[in-house]
Amino acid sequence: MKIGVFDSGLGGLVVTKAFIEALPEYDYVYYGDTEHLPYGEKSSAQIMQYTINAIKYLISQKCGLIIIACNTATAISLRFIQQHFIPHYAPDIKVLGVVIPTVEEALLSNASKVGVIATQVTVNSHIYQQELVKLNPRLSIKEIAAPELVPAIENNDFKLAQNLSVQYASKFQDVDSLILGCTHYPLLKECFRQALPKVNIISQDELMGKKLADYLKKHIEIDICLSRNQESLFFVSNWNEHYQKVAATLVPGIPVQEVR
Ligand code: DGL
Repeated sequence: MKIGVFDSGLGGLVVTKAFIEALPEYDYVYYGDTEHLPYGEKSSAQIMQYTINAIKYLISQKCGLIIIACNTATAISLRFIQQHFIPHYAPDIKVLGVVIPTVEEALLSNASKVGVIATQVTVNSHIYQQELVKLNPRLSIKEIAAPELVPAIENNDFKLAQNLSVQYASKFQDVDSLILGCTHYPLLKECFRQALPKVNIISQDELMGKKLADYLKKHIEIDICLSRNQESLFFVSNWNEHYQKVAATLVPGIPVQEVR
């Protein structure tokens, strides 16, 4: 069994790279749904359907542990997938998201005010707020949607993405920690760090590798089922010239294939 990683587009490649760096011995299959990107503007029903299709695809690719690296898809569909879809469709498969590990990391620093920047759908779901307050009811939380950031990154317009990051960062001067709650934002983490030098910037590429390693240590029954050939496959649902350019900027040299 391999480790599957799903994202709405190419941003999740950055998180997958972090997994491979932290745990290089395992086999990975990445699936990015570039055909339907951006999820941050889609309805819940659409996001649910696309995510279920992606999970089915990764299961067909022999993935036994699947990480939904997309915050938006995690916010809308993870609970349903874990509680209703997987028990019927593939009860032996484990599906995880990115929100809980990110929340745990944000609370390590004893912050009293935490900021969350994410897609409109993720902010509207208030998943970060709910999970943060569950662990620390006295926490004050500021959630702001950044609907222009993902399109700017996926359009390969990093200058625009950097300028937008500085503008968004100015709204979080009063927080102790800021969660970059979207798989695309690790690419902008240095902009946020420069704009907010006193704020602890939580970037998922820096925490997910460690979290996956901890998870596998605690779940030996899953770990022993995972193959270790150091092989990674990268699939997307649309691999046009534009996405090829974006991937070359995000993770140069990565061998991506289109699958429909
Ligand atoms: N990857 C998604 C996330 O982490 C955002 C991109 C999109 O809007 O599709 O929320």
